[in-house]
This record gives sequence, C-alpha cells and structure tokens, in this order.
Amino acid sequence: AAAIPVQANLQTAAVPETAAAREVTILFGSQTGNCSGLAQKISKKLTAQGAQVTVSSMSDFKPNNLKKVQNLLIVVSTHGEGEPPDNAISFYEFLHGKRAPQLDGMSFSILALGDTSYEFFCQTGKDFDKRLEELGGKRIADRVDCDVDFDEPADEWMNEVLKALSAADASGISGTPGSPVTGIASETESEYSRTHPFHAEILENLNLNGRGSDRETRHVEISLDGSGLQYEPGDSLGIYPENHPDLVDDLIQTMGWNPQESITISKHGDQLALREALLRHYEISVLTKPLIAQVAELSDNQQLKELLASGHEQELKGYIEERDLLDLVLDYQLQGITAQAFAGILRKLPARLYSIASSSKAYPDEVHVTVRSVRYDAHGRDRYGVCSVQLAERLQSGDSLPVYIQHNPNFRLPVNPDTPIIMIGPGTGVAPFRAFLGDREESGAEGKTWLFYGDQHFSTDFLYQTEWQRWLKDGVLSRMDVAFSRDTDQKVYVQHRMFEKSRELYEWLQEGACVYVCGDEKKMAHDVHSTLAAILEQEGGFSKEAAAEYLLQMQQEKRYQRDVY
Ligand code: 2AM
Repeated sequence: AAAIPVQANLQTAAVPETAAAREVTILFGSQTGNCSGLAQKISKKLTAQGAQVTVSSMSDFKPNNLKKVQNLLIVVSTHGEGEPPDNAISFYEFLHGKRAPQLDGMSFSILALGDTSYEFFCQTGKDFDKRLEELGGKRIADRVDCDVDFDEPADEWMNEVLKALSAADASGISGTPGSPVTGIASETESEYSRTHPFHAEILENLNLNGRGSDRETRHVEISLDGSGLQYEPGDSLGIYPENHPDLVDDLIQTMGWNPQESITISKHGDQLALREALLRHYEISVLTKPLIAQVAELSDNQQLKELLASGHEQELKGYIEERDLLDLVLDYQLQGITAQAFAGILRKLPARLYSIASSSKAYPDEVHVTVRSVRYDAHGRDRYGVCSVQLAERLQSGDSLPVYIQHNPNFRLPVNPDTPIIMIGPGTGVAPFRAFLGDREESGAEGKTWLFYGDQHFSTDFLYQTEWQRWLKDGVLSRMDVAFSRDTDQKVYVQHRMFEKSRELYEWLQEGACVYVCGDEKKMAHDVHSTLAAILEQEGGFSKEAAAEYLLQMQQEKRYQRDVY
C-alpha cells in the first residue's frame, strides 16, 4: 500500500554562513503536539545561535541516520502506564533493540513531559536518557522532567542546552557542514495560545442525550470570531475550566481561611483573592505524590509521613485515586496551614483538551466540542469532572470561557482526497469524525468513508444521528456500522461490528484506507487494535507477528492514527 504523506508543513530555514555550523537533531514524540511545539521553540533559539537544526517527529526519522547525528535533543511525553506515545513507538523500540548502533561521542539531552498524578511519571524520557548513555552518548545537560505545567522547566532546560552547546562551540569542537536545514513552520499565527487564551463566547450548549439516558453529553458551539485562531480536522480545543464552587467553599471553610485574603499566585508577585485563585488558578481535584509529600512537610503530619514511607506505595496509590484536596485536609485533619503556604505547593489548573467536532470549512469562526459529563460517587461524596460539569451546569450561551487551539499533527486526514478512510469512534470519540466528514463534504473529496460508532442505547445515545443520516444519504459517508451495547442481552461493541465485516474491512486496507481511532484508550482502543490484528490474520493469512508488524508499519506511514485518552 502506498505511503500517505501528511499535511506537515516543511520549510527550509536560512542556513547560517559559518563554514562549520553545529548540527543539532531534535526529535519529538507526543500525543498532543506539546512536544512538537517545544521542539520548534528550541529549534528557533538554536538556529539564532547559528546552529544547523533538523527537527523531526520520531516517526519520520530514519533510525539508520542516528549514527550520523552529533547532537541529539529529545522532547518526549509519556503515555498511559509509562508507555511512549504512538509516534514514538517505533523509534523507541529501535533504540532499545539489538539493532541500535553504538553512539560513542554523540551529545544528547532529554526534555521529558509527564504528569505527577501518574505512577510512571516521565518514564519514556527516563528510558531514552538511560539508553542513550548505555549506547555511549554523552549527556550535555541533565534531563528535565516536567509536570503538567511545563513552560518554566522547559525554558530552564532550553537555557542549559543552549549554554552547553555554545560552550562546546567556544572550546573549538565544531560540527561538520551538513544537509540542508529543515524546520517545521509554525501554524498560522494568532495572538492567542495556550499561555494566552482567547475568551470565547458560547453560542450553543445542548444535551445530545435523550430523556432517560444514563449519560449527559454536551454539544457546545463556541465563537472564535475576532481571535484569528484557526484549526484543521483532528485538532483539539483547550479549555481552561473553573473548579466547582461548592468544593472551593468547603475547602476554605474547613481550613478556616478568609475567602477574600489576597494570595500571591506567581513568582512575579501577581495577586488574586483566595476564592478566585482556588476557583480558577489552582488544581484542587487531583492529588499527586509530590503534593502529598509537600503537605506532609508543611503540616509535619506523622500519619501522612507514614503513608509516604517506602513499603506503602500501594496504599498511597489507592488513597490518591478519586480523592481531592478536601478529602486530604479532612482525612488527615490538617489545620493551621495558611492559605498562602498551601497555594505555594498547588499545581496550576491545567486546560482540558477536547477533540474538535466541527469543520471550520462548514462553520467559519466557530468551534464545536462534544463533552460527556463526568459524575460519580466515591468515598462517600459526589464527584464531578471539573470542565465537563462546569459546561453542563454552569455555562450557557452568552457566557465566555478561555480557550486555545491545540494542533495535533498526529491525527490528520490523508492529503489525497481520494484515499478511503475508516473511522472508529464510540461515544464522544465520534467527535473528530464529524469534523472529518464536514471537511470532506465542503471540499468535495470523493474518497470512500466508513464510520464505526457505538454507545449504550440507540434511542437515547445516538450522538449526531441526523447528521450521519444526511451524510449517508448524500454519499459523504459511504458506510456506517453501529453497536449499541445495552440494547441486547449480549454486549456489542464497535470491534465486534468490525470483525463481522472482516472481509470488506480487509479489502479497504488493501486499497490503502487510513484507519482512525478516537476515544477511550485503556479498553476500547486496545481492543480495536487487537481486532485489526485478528482481521489481518483471518483475511490476509498474516501470522501474529506479521500482523503486529503491519500495524506498526501503518502507524509509521500515518495510515493508522489514534486520538485516545
Ligand atoms: P458499555 O458502557 O455498555 O460497556 C461508548 O462509551 C460505548 O463504548 C458504550 O457503548 C460502551 O459500552 C462501549 N465500550 C465499553 N468498553 C468498550 C470496549 N472495551 N471496547 C469498545 N467499546 C466499549
């Protein structure tokens, strides 16, 4: 099958005129595009210093070229239970396998992105760091592991790397003139970004589920008018949410704080009233191990210190799960900690990312998202998803909220409009496929399209039902198979429907179809992956190993892309 080029925007930057500019290769691997953004940032700085920089996604990098690299910078995130993101898998496996070359004398440094609320924090970055050293590489700046709020530590890492590389230049070690410099052009500029979000007006906010459903799924239409923000199908919308006011007020009351007290919220001395700060600025609904360690220090609480002691890892992990800051202060009777001291150790409230459900060709100056409300009961209290429940309960049309576009180069329609696409998106995972089909309709693309969709009940949970029906009628959608899991005695899921259609699905793959999976990672995406392998085995006579290899190859060629969470 033909390799499908992505819509990556390669551009050639100016080559500095020095005869032997330092060559630096920057490889990034990430699920969301944050690493690619950081890779581009350090690339610009290095280019300004006169270096010859090559920036590439790990999946686009030919491992055989590794031996020629003199200075390697890696920016990589960690996924799920300490795994590399999809576009890093093949490079990761190559480097950790027997075919990895000796890299004596190669300089390297790693920037790792992660989240301290996960057990295997920054594991992929740690693995690369260790492995490159084993292969003979020379670490020129220490690895930096970033938590969710990565901007500052990432800047510090960049400064260290820039210093180290320019010191090497001054000492007379120089690189050789090399291949033409490539860099990735940044997307169309808007003044708004993750660090400077746009306050966007909500135009519509509807529940897509019918009466009697167990679920509530919001379809939210947001105006981007005047922002200059642009997006493509496959991109995500970042939304900065607010914490639930009940949780904030309970916390303030339990601690005996004054809600109006002025709190310093940044190194630069910015101030905010405590209640505002807890609503908008700090994360209070997730506990992490480093946070608990700092609280234990602040409060000198023996019980907490015991929980942190070695041998209690499982207990700590169990405690952290589904508990928030209010639980912590109640369960451990934390008293006498000032609001300012607490504020000093809390993480910043991160934005939530939602796969965009609209095509900007169909809805200029608007962006739509599909958000399922997260509500459950745990440890004797009702729990709410921060952003989803804010959207469901406290935001209406006319209100505004801070947003930005998170570009996702790892989830893109094929460049060729004739390429068939197979889309698998149960539940809210169907969102980006509304954008895909809207785009194909507006551009008049003629490639075949096939959607697998599922949810609990046909009568109440068929998200965007009339739109799929219209697209089926108009031929924008060639086929649709649905799996309503709770309408029958036996559960049926999207992967069961896929397997029922093995023959045809295999034929589509033979014709070069691209496969897209969006939605739940742990269960659904994993089961869908196994089913794709099973289809290759049954219909194509592949061995288990060959099927796995084929899927990996498809991923590398960007014919198999996932947006999973
Ligand atoms: P369930 O809730 O009845 O188990 C969207 O959430 C749909 O995905 C629901 O119908 C849900 O079914 C289903 N689902 C749950 N686990 C799944 C899995 N492992 N693979 C595919 N679909 C799954």
